[in-house]
Amino acid sequence: MLSNELIESLNVKQRSIINSSSHHKVIKAGAGTGKTRMLIAMAISLVMSIIRTISRHDKPILLLAYSNKAATEIKERLSKVTDINQQDIVVKTFHGFCWNIINSSPFFNRYKNFTIIKEDECIKLLTPIINKMPKHSKVKPKKLIKIIVLAGNTNRKINLILKDEYPELLDIEDHIMKLIKAYKAEMKKNQVISFEDIFRVVGRKINNNVDALNWVVDKYSAILIDEAQDTNAAQWNIIEPIAKRLPITVVGDPAQAIYGFRGAESDSLNKALKILPNAEVFKLKENYRSTPQNVAFTNSIFAVTDYKPRLKSMNFDGQKPQVKSFLNEEHEADFVVYSIVDLQMDGHPLNDIFVITRTNEDARYIAEKLKKQWLPVTLATNDDVLTTKCFLDIIAALTVASGQHKKFLMNRYFQLFKGVGIITAQNISECVIRGGYNRVINHMPNRDSISCAVDILRNVSGYKYAQEAIINLTRLMDAYFFDKYANKWDDNKISILEWASTIEPKMTVDNFIEGIMLDGAVNQKTSSNAISVVTAHGSKGLQAKTCFLLNVSPEVYPLMFPKRVTNIEEERRVFYTAATRAEKNLVITSRLFTKKKHHFKTEPNRSLCFINDIKTSLYDS
Ligand SMILES: Nc1ncnc2c1ncn2[C@@H]1O[C@H](COP(=O)(O)OP(=O)(O)O)[C@@H](O)[C@H]1O
Ligand SMILES: [Mg+2]
Repeated sequence: MLSNELIESLNVKQRSIINSSSHHKVIKAGAGTGKTRMLIAMAISLVMSIIRTISRHDKPILLLAYSNKAATEIKERLSKVTDINQQDIVVKTFHGFCWNIINSSPFFNRYKNFTIIKEDECIKLLTPIINKMPKHSKVKPKKLIKIIVLAGNTNRKINLILKDEYPELLDIEDHIMKLIKAYKAEMKKNQVISFEDIFRVVGRKINNNVDALNWVVDKYSAILIDEAQDTNAAQWNIIEPIAKRLPITVVGDPAQAIYGFRGAESDSLNKALKILPNAEVFKLKENYRSTPQNVAFTNSIFAVTDYKPRLKSMNFDGQKPQVKSFLNEEHEADFVVYSIVDLQMDGHPLNDIFVITRTNEDARYIAEKLKKQWLPVTLATNDDVLTTKCFLDIIAALTVASGQHKKFLMNRYFQLFKGVGIITAQNISECVIRGGYNRVINHMPNRDSISCAVDILRNVSGYKYAQEAIINLTRLMDAYFFDKYANKWDDNKISILEWASTIEPKMTVDNFIEGIMLDGAVNQKTSSNAISVVTAHGSKGLQAKTCFLLNVSPEVYPLMFPKRVTNIEEERRVFYTAATRAEKNLVITSRLFTKKKHHFKTEPNRSLCFINDIKTSLYDS
């Protein structure tokens, strides 16, 4: 496709956004109105015209997507436009953008060899610190990490978080501050950084050091942000100084703001207006994704609230959404599996089917059921394999072998070998950093283990692609993993190899490591004709011809949490986000009883389900 064909395929309103000469633009528009499509066209149009006129043609456009999956899809769509230079549009996630700044800007040198760690690793670092000061058993590691993460995401001070959300901890504020200080020192010592700290570190630097800001703004000529309704304060804190220098366009749908629980700003697009002075605001109301029947249904999800989406479908008529009720999860799963088998027999491509669940647990359950019927599945969220200790060991080995001198991962890797404890591992790591593997061989005692460790790294560093590297690492490390994990290793080995066979074979080691580190997932084979099982949150921005929306039952939509207050309106938006993925067939299922006890302490409140708020004439049951 040629770039002007894409731009001409937009409707008048979408094109007027691209053609507007306003410096900053904010587009508030509903699901399926072509926000992402318009944003891609805008990036292309900027590359084609504006850049030339302001003679900054050497600098690419930065397009920020919400997730790795969304970024990949945008890149794929861009690759079909044949008359642009792909390097002129850089597509990244917000995390990827900031992580790249930390790794390549000279203003962040002290973080160069840091490793990003997830919550469980953070807890591991914090626990001994808390145990050392046992007087106050009131604050548990998990809770304290939650507080730290929330402070990071919302860019608020700890004492404000305590005041607003944990008043019961206010009397030990001093103690908490001491713990946090010790924890941060421990993070620094171990050269690790947590996810929310990435934003904080970048935000603080570019707001206080004009040269550091210059370094960032000099790299791009404009920034376009998709799904901006879920941007948090720490991210806006990064955009704010950049917006004084570069044109920014943000698009989003307030009705799909679903990450408030993780600290996203509740009224993110209005925040954008404050940060982007004189931004021109646009709205889009025509839905190109779904049938009129689906749009009527999804519009009415908000019927009982003040918000009225009033989107209009531009597509031909289809069927009304179906709503089906089952006795329990097994009956529900059987229905889904056999419906999909029928679709398959009718020639419906499997990669045009989504199965959307509210929880990871439900996603894993239905994925297993589908696999049992030999249906190919990609499970996009929280693959179990990816959280096993040996998988993390493999990632550590792969990262070290790829030449990255990340001390935290080096220490983890070398400790896998006999006779190597943390102190020796630290010494080996130091040695590698100073003089490479030869220095290690010449300088370290206990050579047998260590030379094995080094041989494996040398061997694996020869592989360009992640898949072959993982398969070989698994083989080379077999005996060591067996020593360490005993019988558990055999099962893990099978799952790791099985999982590795599903990743894109041409994905490079570097891209793989970045994907795992930043997104906790990597792209699976694009050619595979598989059903996508995704959570409602993971489905954001994506679409499929047929969507099964599972377990739309009381206390699941809205999901009632045992330990935190449910934000009913955010839950409604989760339902809306999931339901608006369907182009043609939307099939909603519910359960009368659930065997899983995960969150029901008492008998669920049967009337508490969003489906009850929708007029029965809008669906078939
Ligand atoms: N002007 C248009 N004409 C035809 N199809 C369109 C138009 N705008 C968007 N679409 C299609 O509608 C669907 C939804 O677009 P998308 O950009 O994903 O919406 P949003 O990001 O607003 O949810 C896509 O299949 C897209 O190609
Ligand atoms: Mg979109």
